[in-house]
Amino acid sequence: MLQLDVITLFPEMIENAVSHGVLSQAIKGDILKVSAHTPREFATDRHRTVDDRPFGGGDGMIMLAETLEKTILKVKHKNSKVIYLSPQGPVLTATKAQALSREEHLVFICGRYGGIDQRIINHYVDEELSIGDYVLSGGELAALVTIDALARFIPGVLGHSESAEQDSFSQGLLEHPNFTRPRDYLGQQVPEVLLSGHHQLIGDWKKSVSALVTLKKRPDLFKVFLKEEKIRIQDSKRKNKQSPLLELKSFWSSLSSRDRESLGLADLKEEDFHE
Ligand SMILES: C[S@@+](CC[C@H](N)C(=O)[O-])C[C@H]1O[C@@H](n2cnc3c(N)ncnc32)[C@H](O)[C@@H]1O
Repeated sequence: MLQLDVITLFPEMIENAVSHGVLSQAIKGDILKVSAHTPREFATDRHRTVDDRPFGGGDGMIMLAETLEKTILKVKHKNSKVIYLSPQGPVLTATKAQALSREEHLVFICGRYGGIDQRIINHYVDEELSIGDYVLSGGELAALVTIDALARFIPGVLGHSESAEQDSFSQGLLEHPNFTRPRDYLGQQVPEVLLSGHHQLIGDWKKSVSALVTLKKRPDLFKVFLKEEKIRIQDSKRKNKQSPLLELKSFWSSLSSRDRESLGLADLKEEDFHE
């Protein structure tokens, strides 16, 4: 069972958020354990102070080293990985979330105000982790985003009908569009192939549509996918294989304009298919 300890001045934020949906099911099923701890527990003065003004001046208060250290030492053991949620860390990706899901114990430190004393980072933090190039007022939302993203990779967390393997990013591509009843809505029809019941055909079709969606929405990701696809083809030593980009272009040409419309791909153009 993966254990997650979150160090925060607002433990209720963490406790409330994990008491819903997939995370709460995982906790009830003993797949995941999430606990929140506040440095205020170790503050000894009348006001239970956990922050102070920065040396040298500047905006905002800084979280005190001592109360943070005592909280870290309360939860940390030899197999723990300590992560400080920080806008200065590398940005969380699906690959990173998957790697974190394989750890035994994670300790997340959530900063507030102007952040935390640097000496705690130097001494205790194994990694800094950001959720994007913007500044939040606290690390709690970042910790929750990370917990939610990594939990999806733990076997048993998602039900049979859902799968992290099919989600966007898992194969380097975005997920294909999805449809449910009715078949005809707002003048748009569900693509015929999805009603065919032919699983192999549907699977191949979805993969090609995923590639088209990625080409349209995230050309940066598509470029990486294309490069890897070419290496895969080379390694498999398949002869007379069409280039993956040309293959995708002919798949796109074969789609009816009605299907392109329903898939949200109507504005993809011939010139988008270039190396
Ligand atoms: C207002 S921020 C402090 C920012 C800090 N002064 C700086 O400029 O690097 C307060 C806390 O929010 C969290 N935080 C802010 N932005 C974040 C981000 N993009 N990803 C992860 N955590 C973030 C960190 O824990 C940080 O200590």
